Amino acid sequence: MIKKIPQLRPNLFYVGVNDRKKALFENIWPIESGVAYNSYLITDEKTALIDTVDSNMIMDYLATVQQCLNGKTLDYVIINHMEPDHCGGIQIIKKYYPEVKIVGNKKTFEILHNFYGIEDGLLEVKEGEELSLGVHTLKFFMAPMVHWPEVMMTYELKDHTLFTADAFGSFGTLDGGITDEELNLSFYEDEFIRYYSNIVGKFSNPVQAVLKKFKSMPIKMVASTHGPIFKKHDNIWKLFSLYDKLSRNETDTGVVIAFASMYGNTEAMADVIARELSEQGIVNIKIYDVSKTHPSYIIRDIFKYKGLILGSSTYNLDLHPNMEALVSKLEGIGIKNHIYGCFGTYSWAGKAAKKLEEFGHRTGWDMVGPTIEEKGSLKIEKFTECVAMAYAMAEKLKQ
Ligand code: FEO
Repeated sequence: MIKKIPQLRPNLFYVGVNDRKKALFENIWPIESGVAYNSYLITDEKTALIDTVDSNMIMDYLATVQQCLNGKTLDYVIINHMEPDHCGGIQIIKKYYPEVKIVGNKKTFEILHNFYGIEDGLLEVKEGEELSLGVHTLKFFMAPMVHWPEVMMTYELKDHTLFTADAFGSFGTLDGGITDEELNLSFYEDEFIRYYSNIVGKFSNPVQAVLKKFKSMPIKMVASTHGPIFKKHDNIWKLFSLYDKLSRNETDTGVVIAFASMYGNTEAMADVIARELSEQGIVNIKIYDVSKTHPSYIIRDIFKYKGLILGSSTYNLDLHPNMEALVSKLEGIGIKNHIYGCFGTYSWAGKAAKKLEEFGHRTGWDMVGPTIEEKGSLKIEKFTECVAMAYAMAEKLKQ
């Protein structure tokens, strides 16, 4: 099988693969539009792969690498990130190229040993160290916790390419086009934010540290392990600005209302709140039924907008299980800097609204209240409280 292999720069090739079969990334996050595992090959006096791909795509990947090497041997594999969607191919690569040196840091090799039992052929690098391939020289920068503790980024000094591991990645396959010069980026806009919020969002301080590290360095290409590759100066600037904004938990004016409703009473309260928000001039309002929309998409919008209002019916004297799932993920990610309100309904014993209020206290967010809990269908007293909560939320957002 012969492939068309995209060339990104002289001696730099894209050898990544598209995964259109997997339903859930990390077996958690939906990827209807698939995902790309990006990998790069530099063919200088020495040859080097930058990351590999998921093991389920490995034979396709190996054939591409072999075609691109065109009979040359492989000298180095740089492991920027040990998560198996990027190092799943390492055993096969080592089998086919037994002399290859695996380049990583101390933490990389701990995980490499634990996952694959590999202990030989390793070349350990530290912050700022360089590796010459001939014309190209690679310089290594540690980026701990820009998803995992061993993550590092590789900077190519001749063409100023930054290989960023998961940072600046996106869901969605690369369908023909690979770079921002070839793609319509509008498709990826929401997927960038969903990827950030779902995968990297918990690690905002490490992202800020990395942004500072590269602030004054010339970068002419950003090559992540997922999604489009950026070559245009304006797009690289926008990408760094977006990551800066997201990692500072800076949001736009708007409100996400997510509800869990069994018989429509909780949803009715959500609609009243949304209508009042609109009447108060809030334009960005997104209502989600947590039993229909996966938390992945709701979390994406919570990263976009400052206001969040959660509503849940009581189920078995607790939160509705689907709201519990959302709340649990939000607590895990630890997103900051929101304005929050909550409400609920019950049939014979209330609990959900109280649970949502406790969640709000744990987050440390700015809360608008009081918490509203209705018995059965919405009646005038709680209707008035819903209107008041929406009004208070709108006022805070306008400040
Ligand atoms: Fe794409 Fe953290 O792996």
